[in-house]
Amino acid sequence: MSSDGLDQAPLIETVVTTTGSDGVVNCAAMGVRWGEEELVFWPFHATRTLKNLRFRGEAVVHLTDDVLLFVQSALGRPRPAMRAASVIAGSVIEDVSSWREVVVNEISPSEDGAARSRVRARVVAAGTGTRQSLGLCRARHAAVEASIFASRLRWLGSARVWAELARLQELVDKTAGPSERAAMDYDRRYVAERT
Ligand SMILES: Cc1cc2nc3c(=O)[nH]c(=O)nc-3n(C[C@H](O)[C@H](O)[C@H](O)COP(=O)(O)O)c2cc1C
Repeated sequence: MSSDGLDQAPLIETVVTTTGSDGVVNCAAMGVRWGEEELVFWPFHATRTLKNLRFRGEAVVHLTDDVLLFVQSALGRPRPAMRAASVIAGSVIEDVSSWREVVVNEISPSEDGAARSRVRARVVAAGTGTRQSLGLCRARHAAVEASIFASRLRWLGSARVWAELARLQELVDKTAGPSERAAMDYDRRYVAERT
């Protein structure tokens, strides 16, 4: 698929692993335009992900409905069980639905002038993991949305963020299992520790 076609592809929320010059593997929640042969994503300038990609030019992009891992990857530094990737010098998270190993083709300025870069990467290997995706769940969606609000606390302010979390908590209360509840609790703790 061309990068033009990719602009029409859905933006899928993923967990991206990259490896730093110190060998430390970083997990980051990241929206990715999902093509068959190419992926495009937009790491912010300040992220370890972008720094690592400039250093090594390789990543593993994971699909998972493990919302707690996703939220931790957005707001913290999770250390899930991982193993070596097959083609690149990267790390695959074991308990995910699937993954793609990618090599960076191009890092360019973001089209919208925001403080992030546009990374175009080609898929060089792919695999499926041990986790079976359970499909759509409102509580999972709510916990992901809550993590977006939590990550924007500095710009949105605590009153707005707490109001959004209260609205999203209703969905969690109605439809969550333990993992979704834990993810929402993680979001709330993150905000509480900073307000
Ligand atoms: C739903 C969601 C989508 C995100 N998408 C992006 C993204 O496209 N680019 C980005 O830089 N950060 C994104 N983030 C924030 C990162 O996950 C967060 O900043 C993370 O810590 C990455 O930084 P790191 O590479 O320093 O670990 C997203 C967060 C959430 C909750």
